[in-house]
This record gives sequence, C-alpha cells and structure tokens, in this order.
Amino acid sequence: MDAQAPAMQQDTADLPKGVLALTVTSVTHYTDRLFHFATTRPPSFRFRSGEFVMIGLPGGDKPIYRAYSVASPSWGEELEFFSIKVPDGPLTSRLQHIKVGDTVWMREKATGTLVNDALIPGKRLYMFSTGTGIAPFASLIRDPDTYEKFDQIILTHTCREVAELKYGLDLVASIRADEMLNELFDTSKLVHFTSVTREDYPQKGRITDLIESGELFDKLGVPPLDPEVDRGMICGSMAMLKDTKALLEKAGLTEGANNNPAQFVIERAFVN
Ligand code: A2P
Repeated sequence: MDAQAPAMQQDTADLPKGVLALTVTSVTHYTDRLFHFATTRPPSFRFRSGEFVMIGLPGGDKPIYRAYSVASPSWGEELEFFSIKVPDGPLTSRLQHIKVGDTVWMREKATGTLVNDALIPGKRLYMFSTGTGIAPFASLIRDPDTYEKFDQIILTHTCREVAELKYGLDLVASIRADEMLNELFDTSKLVHFTSVTREDYPQKGRITDLIESGELFDKLGVPPLDPEVDRGMICGSMAMLKDTKALLEKAGLTEGANNNPAQFVIERAFVN
C-alpha cells in the first residue's frame, strides 16, 4: 500500500500473531493536528485504565506500530484513542485518514505506569497533561477506582491553541452529565484546569510556570504541593515531563513504578 493511501478494511486472516484487529466506529477531527477515534473492543482484551498499547495499520511489508494510551476506561465497551497528526509521520500520516469501518491493528498486551496501582494512597491526585498527553487521564477520570482512592482529582491540560482543549472539555462535560457515571462515583471530585500558551485564553501559560509561580494553587484554591497528601501523574512531551518532574521532586514527591508505588509517576505522550 502506498504510504499516503488511506487505511482500508482488511481480511483478518493475515493477522500477525499477538495482534488483534479493531474496527473503527467513529473518527472526530479536532484540529489539523489532533483527532480522536474509537474502535470495537475484542472480548479477550484486558487492560488497566491509564495503560498504553501498540497501534498499527494493516498493509505494507512490515507494519509500523506506535504506542498509544487507551483513552477509554477499563470497563468501556469500545476502545478510544487520541492522536496527533504528523504530516510525514510513518504511522499517523496514514492513520489520520481512517474512516468508520476500517481496520486498525493492536498488539494484545497493554502496559504502562500511569495506573492507580503505581501510586501510594493520598488525598489529592494531580494529572498534569499537555497536548495528546490527556489520553491516559481520559481513561482514569472515568474509572471508579480513581475516585475511591482520592478525595479530589485535578486534571490539568495545557495546549498551544484553544481548539486543542476541546476534546478534554467535551469529555469532562459529558462525564458530569452522565447519569450512570454519577451513580458509579462522585463526579464533583473532578476539577479540570485548562491553560493555553500560544493564543488568548482566560488562563495562559505553561503548567510548569503556573506551578512554579504558585498561580495554579491560588486559582484552584488549594495549598501548594505537599508530599504527605498530594500525588501526581504526568503525561506530555519529553521536555514537559522532565520539567514537571523536577518541580514535583523539588516539592518533595518521589517517583514510583508498578513494582514500587510512590508519590508520582510519568509517561511520555508517545507519538510526535
Ligand atoms: P509552548 O507553546 O510554550 O511550547 P506540544 O504540542 O509542543 O507538545 O506542546 C503542548 C503544550 O506543552 C504547549 O502549551 C507547550 O507550550 C507546552 N510545553 C512545551 N514544552 C514544555 C515544557 N518543557 N514544560 C511545560 N510545558 C511545555
């Protein structure tokens, strides 16, 4: 298949071992840089909210796979993904053209550190995200475990442009309006803080600057970061991870992992 050609529906008979075929059920383009798609969920596929999988497309000699956080919760009937579009990207240059009914391939093993199990109990969970880094948190803010474990969940999302916030804003509004979710957990525990860096918006600035200046905590009406009660998850570009991690460490929080839960965890928003 030509590298620029749209993904086509494929017979699943040629599926490589350990790969599941997903059928695309919806595609939403937010900007010329960001889109969301949903797929069917194979009954055998299990994952923990916040984990990522390897996604590829059929066709070509050697399929290319890229890591994608699953944006839907572990109980969801469908799988959801939030993706950047890289014009010359080996995968996203094709993936951005997928249509309802097309086939996407997914390796069957999910993994990752942005999971509730990798954090020790606390009162307040911060989810710091930039760009498509909101994806694992889109999963976790729909998981009852997150609300059982924490009194308050603060999702921060910073993007270059206002239009890039829309996916998160719509998702949080839909959670608050969802009767079933309101029965499963207390949606008023969720706080959504948005900021923009390259356009006019009521809240401007990088999350790192807002943490450092204390503006984030003033605006939220909460005390500064405290390792006794605050927990963190970070997902964004390599530079954003490094800088945000340094600020959490400065506040006295230590990094955890699946086999060593602690006060914060990080994961790169992979496809760029
Ligand atoms: P900025 O516009 O100042 O670069 P990207 O799409 O490049 O991943 O950026 C998403 C958001 O993350 C942008 O608002 C960007 O701000 C911000 N950002 C980029 N680098 C960092 C960093 N090192 N620390 C915190 N935020 C960052």
